[in-house]
Amino acid sequence: MVKVSVDLLLRNGIVIVEGREKRRSVAIRTGKIEGIYERGMEPRAEKTIDCDGRYILPGVIDIHVHLRDLEQPDKEDYISGTRSAAAGGVTTVVDMPNSQPPVLTREVLDMKIERARQGRHVNVGFYAGIPAESERFHASTKIDVLGLKVYPHAPLDGSTFNLKRIEESLKLANEMRLPLLFHPDSAQPMVKVRSVEHYLETHSCDSEVESISQFIRIHKEVGGRLHVCHVSCAASAKMIIDNRAEDRLTAETTPHHLFLSDADFSHEDGTAKMLPPLRTPQDNQALRDALCKCGIDVVASDHAPHTLGEKMTSFINAKSGIPGLETIVPLMLTEVFEGRFSWVEYLRMCSSGPANLLGLLGKGVLSKGYDADVIVVARESYPIEGKKFQSKAKVTPFEGKTVNARPVVTIIGGNPVYEDGKFLVGPGSVGTVPVRPLIRPRNT
Ligand code: DOR
Ligand code: ZN
Repeated sequence: MVKVSVDLLLRNGIVIVEGREKRRSVAIRTGKIEGIYERGMEPRAEKTIDCDGRYILPGVIDIHVHLRDLEQPDKEDYISGTRSAAAGGVTTVVDMPNSQPPVLTREVLDMKIERARQGRHVNVGFYAGIPAESERFHASTKIDVLGLKVYPHAPLDGSTFNLKRIEESLKLANEMRLPLLFHPDSAQPMVKVRSVEHYLETHSCDSEVESISQFIRIHKEVGGRLHVCHVSCAASAKMIIDNRAEDRLTAETTPHHLFLSDADFSHEDGTAKMLPPLRTPQDNQALRDALCKCGIDVVASDHAPHTLGEKMTSFINAKSGIPGLETIVPLMLTEVFEGRFSWVEYLRMCSSGPANLLGLLGKGVLSKGYDADVIVVARESYPIEGKKFQSKAKVTPFEGKTVNARPVVTIIGGNPVYEDGKFLVGPGSVGTVPVRPLIRPRNT
């Protein structure tokens, strides 16, 4: 039998086959996975990467990322943000619309797409916001976005949010055949926070639950697809589980809401300040349980970079948000290696689940015919160190935490972009921008 030649062979690594670790090689041809082979059965390859003892996995699809750029390149730009993704083992990111300026017009989206095309090291998809008058939403936007996102506690146009706007947003999302994502928080916009306690009270679990209940109530009347971002509380997880209707109501949580709790931090500065805030160990456990029983679908980083000055000030004055692209894979795989998540759970939460949720049906699975967005991970123990991040944001509440998984190779569409701490190609040469769904998720 003549063996065909492939472009790239990831030789002799560990691949998850039907939930079990197996020694296998992965071949890649014309940007797709060509096959997974037992020893001695591998095809000839133009290039080979030795993966002995290392894990070959589908890259993470991170559906909640703020890449900033435009008027906020001091926080992050598409080059640094997608370098951060590539170094972190994240092969596709989906960029949130609360940039400066926000994505409320086709023009701003076009600017972001152009900047991301030039700066990309990984695949980049986008969400759009919804103007106060939803009929002003430009229908041509829909082809280039993966969903619409609203922030009831901080509307992107600086206005206020009410129940009528929830209904209009859901109706618009249905019309566009896109999911509506929302930040669950019913705090009044523009509340002037007076103290740490006041901040935590303003953005409490009650506020999160109230917001989720409002959206779910209206969603039941209007229909369509509704996605709850960064669920942080046990009561929210319960409400979602009680109201799930297959893929019409979906939810995500973050590594920080899974693994950290508020009492572990001193609140002297903004290191552990984010929205939603960190909660309690009981909430951590409830989120974990909800994920494992598919009540919460996916894990996303909510990578939200700010400048050093914006974080290293008093808690009240600090900006909310932490970098997450370079910690999501190490943290989640440490759970796998220490037996707290199974491989099947990890792959669903971080790769295939996010792909399904956004209709990226050629992505998220390491199997013949899928896009070759692949990472190689070494099992190795080391502390997280923010100063080593590729992101411009280097302050992390995970500082010093020991993890035991290190992404060492990142391959985008069959092209190795990052290997052992080095970038192999310049920005703007690999990856797809914007990422579009292969098949639109059904809406009704
Ligand atoms: O902590 C957060 N930071 N939560 C958000 O919802 C927004 C984000 C940001 O853009 O900084
Ligand atoms: Zn966010």
